[in-house]
Amino acid sequence: MKPAERLEQLRAELALHNHRYYTLDAPEVSDATYDALMRELLALEAAHPELVTPDSPSQRVGGAVLDKFVKVAHRQQMLSLGNVFDEAEFTEFDDRLRKALGVEQVTYTCEPKMDGLAIELVYEHGRFVQGSTRGDGAIGEDVTENLKTIKNLPLTLKGRDLPALLEVRGEVFIKTADFKRMNDKLLREGEEAFVNPRNSAAGSLRQLDTKNTASRPLSVFLYETGVVEGRTFETHHEKLEYFEQVGLPVNPRRSVVTGKDGAMQAYAALLAERHALPYEIDGLVVKVDSTDARARLGQVSKTPRWAIAFKFPPEEMEAQVEEIVVQVGRTGAITPVANLKPVFVGGVTVSRATLHNEQELRRKDVRAGDWVFVRRAGDVIPEIVKVITSKRTGDEKEFAFPTECPVCSAPVKREEDGIIARCTGKTCPAKLAGRLRHFATRTAMDIDGLGDKLCEALIDAGLVKSVADLYTLGVTQLMSLERLGEKSAQNLFDALARSKTTTLRRFIYALGIPEVGEATGKALAEHFRDVHKVMTATQEELQAVKDIGPEMARAIHGYFEDPENRAMVEALLAVGVTPEPPEARPAGGTFAGKTVVLTGTLSLMTRDQAKEEIERRGGKVSGSISKKTDFLVAGEEAGSKLTKAKELGVQVLTEAEFQALL
Ligand code: IVH
Repeated sequence: MKPAERLEQLRAELALHNHRYYTLDAPEVSDATYDALMRELLALEAAHPELVTPDSPSQRVGGAVLDKFVKVAHRQQMLSLGNVFDEAEFTEFDDRLRKALGVEQVTYTCEPKMDGLAIELVYEHGRFVQGSTRGDGAIGEDVTENLKTIKNLPLTLKGRDLPALLEVRGEVFIKTADFKRMNDKLLREGEEAFVNPRNSAAGSLRQLDTKNTASRPLSVFLYETGVVEGRTFETHHEKLEYFEQVGLPVNPRRSVVTGKDGAMQAYAALLAERHALPYEIDGLVVKVDSTDARARLGQVSKTPRWAIAFKFPPEEMEAQVEEIVVQVGRTGAITPVANLKPVFVGGVTVSRATLHNEQELRRKDVRAGDWVFVRRAGDVIPEIVKVITSKRTGDEKEFAFPTECPVCSAPVKREEDGIIARCTGKTCPAKLAGRLRHFATRTAMDIDGLGDKLCEALIDAGLVKSVADLYTLGVTQLMSLERLGEKSAQNLFDALARSKTTTLRRFIYALGIPEVGEATGKALAEHFRDVHKVMTATQEELQAVKDIGPEMARAIHGYFEDPENRAMVEALLAVGVTPEPPEARPAGGTFAGKTVVLTGTLSLMTRDQAKEEIERRGGKVSGSISKKTDFLVAGEEAGSKLTKAKELGVQVLTEAEFQALL
């Protein structure tokens, strides 16, 4: 075969695999096969440079270095969107459209509003020839070479009879996980990190050295057309379907809805899903579906009348730092916290944001009086992203990290890693308050009504000097606290009494041993079955527990070496706390020491129930088949796992056979 022919074949094949991998998320060859094809292409092109085409997949790796970005005029102006922020404003928009179009209900297409950077791609007869940024809408910058490095951007479109000219518009963005990874890497290399995915997408695309762009994990979704020659679309959703057909990536999370109610439902659904999406969005774009209706509505200056951005509550806001203080946690860890002038962000009013630790505080160089970006996404603790240094007046005050605990005045000691500073005070009331709070939480001892304020009040009043003291309190003593009336005092007393009967795993977790979370509490309880055995276990014995590594074993051992911690456990047992060991598992159960995998649909019990039954009989349930698997329980419509089990010679049980064994 002639090199030119082979090259064409390779390009077509690589483009196909690329599309399957990055756009459809359904690769059909291994990475190694893909790499081999790519290597062959590169070698052949190196030998025949005259055969390199601008749409060759080899062009994706970057390499072109520009001195500046050339300006390009958009053939058709790139518009921006008007915003609405609540139902009332959206209703006005919908009313206006219904009136203008003279219809009862408008049909809309709803799409996520991607928080990235708007771009235009020009395809001539299916070949990507130019790409540009939005710029001011009329004139943008030529970023063709940079765009070519984006993996899910097709360099050639699929199919025959492609339009002579197809201009498509969309958004370049970075997935949240890719953003985190990239920022961590930048920080490790001593570079400055990006504030958010949107900034990083913009910064990554506009790199004069396109190798830099190639190294950044950019993605693209297309959502509109510019000038199109040789093809028309009656509706917006038809246009998006066509995009998909020719291989242009389109956001799958879109819907065609009827009227205001339909759009409101799409808004609520997307808002609920917001943090589960792999990329950041800042609202829902609602667009009139009919092309004809769009034309009748037209535009006002730079925004179309036929679409609107229905914005979500912002997750990032500017705020001013009033002061920086430190908090002392239950392990004595000292956390700097910024008190802010209250701002509405991420759907709630925020007046404080964590600065994590001294290192983080220094790195961000936050000072009292500074203006900062505050971010709160989902249930995450509000965080200061960056100082807005341009707003500094010179009156800001740097924070002196304390060398003494602000609560008990004991010296502050830095841990070996130098990151965490701890109060060394043995009787620090702040540590005790933290311990009480942790002890009382729902997943620990579950003491209803014992919240933050009450813990502090009990300590301040001198009623509680150790965790065990909680159980010596009478109703009258509790009533002596300002905050508690007779009824609440009685309720708290009852809750405390109830909490005495607990499980060993909850009890171990409640002690607040460093590194020990709920899962480790459970593992320790199941392994040792007795709190004294945990207390006296050696590091080696602790490491024998599943999922406990050397570091955790050291932490647990160290904790119980401290006589005060041992005394606390004894005191709790002495006042009547009774931690029950987990139900015994017969050593010789049906599945003792066996690994079982469940697959397909079970008709007589849920997967969780089946798992429990197997575990009660001494077995372990695993998610994947290997040579070490002893049984595969195959329910209805079992698929690839069944095939694999047969290949590996793993014993397969039908659901009926499994039931019989139980
Ligand atoms: S349509 C005429 N659809 O929002 C309509 N825009 O202020 C042009 N954006 O510049 C835009 N997701 O960067 C549209 N699904 C989406 C979008 C979207 C994000 C951005 C785009 C645009 C800005 C509008």
